[in-house]
Amino acid sequence: MKLKERDQKHLWHPLKQHQLQPESMAIVKAKGCVLTDENGKEYIDAISSWYTCMFGHCNDYIIEKTYQQMQQLDQIMFSDFTHEPAVKLSEELIKILPKGQNRIFFNDNGSTAVEAAIKMALQYYFNQGEKRNTFIAFEGGFHGDTFGAMSVSGLSVYNGPFEDFLMDVKRIPVPNGENRNEILSLLKQYHQEEKIAGFIYEPLIQGAAGMKIHDAEGLHTILDYCKTNDILTIADEVMTGFGKTGKFFASDHIPTKPDIICLSKALTVGLIPMAITSCTEKIYEAFLSNDISKGFFHCHTYSANPIACATAIAGIELLQTEEIQNSILRISRMHSDFKNEIKNHSKVLSVRNMGVIFALDLNVKMERYGDLRDKLLQFFMDRGIFLRPLGNTIYIQVPYVISDDQLKRIYQTIKESLGQL
Ligand SMILES: Cc1ncc(COP(=O)(O)O)c(C=O)c1O
Repeated sequence: MKLKERDQKHLWHPLKQHQLQPESMAIVKAKGCVLTDENGKEYIDAISSWYTCMFGHCNDYIIEKTYQQMQQLDQIMFSDFTHEPAVKLSEELIKILPKGQNRIFFNDNGSTAVEAAIKMALQYYFNQGEKRNTFIAFEGGFHGDTFGAMSVSGLSVYNGPFEDFLMDVKRIPVPNGENRNEILSLLKQYHQEEKIAGFIYEPLIQGAAGMKIHDAEGLHTILDYCKTNDILTIADEVMTGFGKTGKFFASDHIPTKPDIICLSKALTVGLIPMAITSCTEKIYEAFLSNDISKGFFHCHTYSANPIACATAIAGIELLQTEEIQNSILRISRMHSDFKNEIKNHSKVLSVRNMGVIFALDLNVKMERYGDLRDKLLQFFMDRGIFLRPLGNTIYIQVPYVISDDQLKRIYQTIKESLGQL
């Protein structure tokens, strides 16, 4: 029996209506930018398997470094113990994180990185005798699937059924270059009416919303307002972190730096799940006390797993090489050329790109999980390209090691798809 069929007996997949779509694609191998299915068909991974494998799948250097660690120390609880990979990772990460970040707290995935950030912000005030219970977030943002993360995300199919159980969150529109005053007056209103603990945002690019890019100056204005009004700022860099936007972090494009940063996905380059919530010394100090209960009592069993830490260190080493930095520039230039080539196509509503991220909105109405979108996904898969449209948005987020020819094949297939619509 094929994997595809065996799968249906016991497995329950995420983001899927099994009654309508019983089958999943069975992948048996991944190397570099290429995935191979159980029939031997190959696909270029044009979205780096949800923005994780930025140095290609099964990267030899990453595997070697991870294997070395596997032979040395596999797992040790991080409450009461420490180890070289965690210490070294904290040292290397602090060197490249936006200015001000000085403490590294470990989590398991993007959602729990956000969850810890939310709890950190709430307890930061609680420890100082102040009760704050509201967050500000962008409309249409996505921050994950745990309750805090669902609360700060925009309402959608992901969090709709749980609406009654979510935290109090006030929404502001993303800055578009023209709504500065509207956003500022909303911020002032919320600040007067509510006890705001923090503002959480995906810096510059809202991923799940369809790789929507917003205005850097506008974001700077919001962050500046928060800083001057004692509202903590939480940058969710789960999607944007580690080079995707052309700088190490999207926050590097903006002069005002966040108090807390959430990291995952490319942190461990697709090999092992792990996440980090980093923060400034000011936040950390609010948890120091002779009173034990003022510590941060939030912990996951695999916190700072040594193997995952070793993988992350290897990824940070590769990210800083001239070869990878040049490659990010190369991809960015190719994206810009492709954007100019197709921006006036009758089926294209809008096109945008930043770093290795490229997105176009089709001039065609499509449900996020509807028939037409599924047909488009199938069109790409049939042609050996793994692209996963978000409704009517087709986006690319390729591994940094993709070749020019592979990237051109992705562009060509997108152009063909426009002709079919
Ligand atoms: C910006 C952002 N934050 C948080 C998450 C949640 O991460 P995870 O799926 O690892 O829980 C995602 C996932 O796509 C994301 O894009």
